[in-house]
Amino acid sequence: MNQDQLDMLIAEATAVRERAHAPYSGYLVGAAVLTADGRVFAGCNVENASYGLSICAERSAVAAAVAAGCRTFSAIAVVTASHPPATPCGACRQVLAEFGDFPVILANVGGEWRTTTVGELLPAAFLPSALEPRP
Ligand code: THU
Repeated sequence: MNQDQLDMLIAEATAVRERAHAPYSGYLVGAAVLTADGRVFAGCNVENASYGLSICAERSAVAAAVAAGCRTFSAIAVVTASHPPATPCGACRQVLAEFGDFPVILANVGGEWRTTTVGELLPAAFLPSALEPRP
């Protein structure tokens, strides 16, 4: 991933964040996944009056990519208004780990950003490979 791709991914996540449905928390999150074939899929958090049904931005973006037939991810950007930029919740870390160990760009609307990886965010993840070898 080069700097142009990084900037583009943050811009996509920032744009979709504005479409978040977060009337209960007021906390808007945008995420954008870059796939191996160069496509970008965006997602925002979608809250619900039944609070526990709320969907995180990261999982929205992953679902959009998978629904389009793209499962090989090169990176994901997550944009919030938090300082420092917020990290994905535990559930989203597990969902990201399903698709490999790739860069995670954490950014905020103030222009701060840093990169980490799925592996750093969720060491010793439960992976699909755990289901394979049965004694
Ligand atoms: N949220 C996300 O979209 N991603 C995360 O990784 C953490 C939390 C959303 C869920 C809820 O709509 C709001 O942020 C406050 O928790």
